[in-house]
Amino acid sequence: MSRLVVVSNRVAVPSAYGEKGAQGGLAGALDAALKDTNGLWFGWSGEEAAQPGQIPNIQTSDGVTTATIDLSPGNLEDYYNGYANSTLWPLFHYRIDLAKFERETGRGYERVNHLFGEALSPLIERDDIVWVHDYHLIPLGDDLRHRGLTNRLGFFLHTPWPPTRLLVSLPYHERLVRSLLAYDLIGFQCEEWLTSFLHYCQTELGAKIDQRSGRIRIEGRTVIARAYPIGIDFEQFTALRNSGEARQAGQRVLSSTRRRTAMIGVDRLDYSKGLPERLDGIGRFFDRYPERVGELVYIQIAPPSRSDIGSYQDIRAELEQKAGQINGARSRIDLVPIRYVNQGHTPAELYGIYNACKIGLVTPLRDGMNLVAKEYVAAQDPDDPGVLILSRFAGAAEQLTEALMVNPQSPDDIASAIRDALDMPLDERKARWEPMLASVRDQNVIKWAGNFVNDLEQVKQ
Ligand code: G6P
Repeated sequence: MSRLVVVSNRVAVPSAYGEKGAQGGLAGALDAALKDTNGLWFGWSGEEAAQPGQIPNIQTSDGVTTATIDLSPGNLEDYYNGYANSTLWPLFHYRIDLAKFERETGRGYERVNHLFGEALSPLIERDDIVWVHDYHLIPLGDDLRHRGLTNRLGFFLHTPWPPTRLLVSLPYHERLVRSLLAYDLIGFQCEEWLTSFLHYCQTELGAKIDQRSGRIRIEGRTVIARAYPIGIDFEQFTALRNSGEARQAGQRVLSSTRRRTAMIGVDRLDYSKGLPERLDGIGRFFDRYPERVGELVYIQIAPPSRSDIGSYQDIRAELEQKAGQINGARSRIDLVPIRYVNQGHTPAELYGIYNACKIGLVTPLRDGMNLVAKEYVAAQDPDDPGVLILSRFAGAAEQLTEALMVNPQSPDDIASAIRDALDMPLDERKARWEPMLASVRDQNVIKWAGNFVNDLEQVKQ
């Protein structure tokens, strides 16, 4: 079996976890995938450096070798805060209204991808297979090809891929997508994003597409594009069930909410997660059913994210204001209906919290997959499972079809789903939860990585 080289913006070694990084879906998923492959993980160190180190810092622990480079403040601003998170992230989440189109940051993005290529290519051996992750690093494959690498190169996108009509509003969109086609295998979270990508290749680039196999023929080359829905590390996550940390966190929820039903939301503080819209839905529930205010406590865990970017500062302010308004109008001396927590939590604490909350509210406006929905399902008790309310616009909705599905833009839809969840009899809760649990257990992160790597190994070098 060939050695696996994984490349991503963030590398999940403890020193690279900023306060913000640890909640990201990508980092946890890859850690599990790499452990038994003796692979190499390359990426940004998480550090700013005046003299960016092109010579990677290499460390081996727990069977995984990591190689990281620092980035200068200017590069970080253009590449990470700029093009990746102020252009591609909003555009890929259908938020063209928030996307900034600056030539300067586009150049910085290509420059940093080039730096990655320069530092990474000497570490790659002949038979390695290279798997690059996410929107930060789309042009890296093309850069590596220009350096003469003939290794098998795979790419996985953790976000949605937008419809062609939106993507063409990106200046130089063709240049970006053509660079993506330097990879041999391109993975998406679900069928919807894959379909949008194939549509772009066909209509904008004139590629020949075989819809069934995902083969794209373009300029004499063949590239394969497929959907590989990511999952959680089911065994590891559910093993937390008996930990003291999980029990304690669950107890704290239960003893502080007493006879009320606790409802939980856990999201990076990001405008794609639909947080103000969600609070509007909860506010609508209280408006429509004032007699039920005392039945429900909503806990929103929202660790701040990408806080140097204006749109993230705005969403934080909006959320604080909305939570304050609803609590101001609906609190009583012994009841605060919304608890808004900015602090992050460990996986064990989250297990205990999900387990104690009888409703899980996951309502992103768009989301590549959403692993919180899967963790919530995994953490329920078979005898008394909670209800998952899920946005139809999350990739996870393609698999967790028995959730209460909502349109996250509609406060009425969310309010009705909360009412239905509160009133749902045990039989129905079990009947919905059991098939979702089977899907979360089966489509786990180990399988996800295995499927992708197997397919990449089949590609002719
Ligand atoms: C999403 C992205 C990841 C990213 C994570 C955390 O899940 O798909 O690539 O690592 O968010 O965001 P951050 O900007 O803190 O790395």
